[in-house]
Amino acid sequence: MSATDKVFAGSIPGIYDEYLVPMIFAVYADDIARRVAARSPSVLLEIAAGTGAVTRAVAAALPRGIRYVATDLNEPMLAVAARRQAGDDRITWRQADAMALPFGDAEFDVVCCQFGAMFFPGRIKAYGEVKRVMKPDGTFVFNVWDRIEDNVLTQEATVALETLFPDDPPRFMVRTPHGYYDQAVIRDDLEQAGFRDISIETRPEISRAPSAEYVATALCQGTPLRSEIEARDASKLQAATDIVAEVIRRRHGSGPVEGKIQAIVIEARP
Ligand SMILES: C[S@@+](CC[C@H](N)C(=O)[O-])C[C@H]1O[C@@H](n2cnc3c(N)ncnc32)[C@H](O)[C@@H]1O
Repeated sequence: MSATDKVFAGSIPGIYDEYLVPMIFAVYADDIARRVAARSPSVLLEIAAGTGAVTRAVAAALPRGIRYVATDLNEPMLAVAARRQAGDDRITWRQADAMALPFGDAEFDVVCCQFGAMFFPGRIKAYGEVKRVMKPDGTFVFNVWDRIEDNVLTQEATVALETLFPDDPPRFMVRTPHGYYDQAVIRDDLEQAGFRDISIETRPEISRAPSAEYVATALCQGTPLRSEIEARDASKLQAATDIVAEVIRRRHGSGPVEGKIQAIVIEARP
């Protein structure tokens, strides 16, 4: 993983929340919320909560009186989340690295995490931390993206950028968000961390966006792909966005855009 892959700061959090969350994250947040609500937790922890897509969906599905701690490595992501969810006194926002959770043993009924595990350099360590802070009868609910070939718009954007940077194409999307999808590896990592009861499901959905330009802005400017483009040539961010928009427009037309997305959803118990 490159050092910038886990940095969600500067202009990224705002664009991420405005463009990317409705396009590809909200639909899976609803799925996580259904799974979490089915466990009727009183005290829950979210890791890698980002701008709060799951936090909002889960909070809407749970009653008053629960306690919900939402954490993320990057404060600027949590700042957007906290602003959007102001006034919900069930929720505490806290900066935390998934690999060193600042909580005591057996504090939480449920731990959830949406599209975060791919960013953890030490996944077994992070899963071990989840198991430690979870009650012995607790559940860890999380998801990861499936391979990039099953996530059409992201793949098309990645291929499009090869034309702008042929010698050193930005590979963030392949390397990190879509780099942890082997179900045998995920199961093995969880088992090494002490989980025993593990269910894994493949979940296809359709992503929708109002236009090709919207898709290009979301992917090129609202993710760490932005830093990777800027590291090659900071003046080319708009050119990169335009090239991706052009390729998406050619494939999907100049109106609203649809594309298959696919995730792997995991529920794990000790
Ligand atoms: C793709 S975003 C997902 C955010 C949110 N869960 C959502 O569904 O929109 C990945 C998140 O992982 C966070 N992250 C990266 N490394 C992390 C770590 N070691 N511990 C906790 N969070 C981390 C990033 O800050 C970012 O918010």
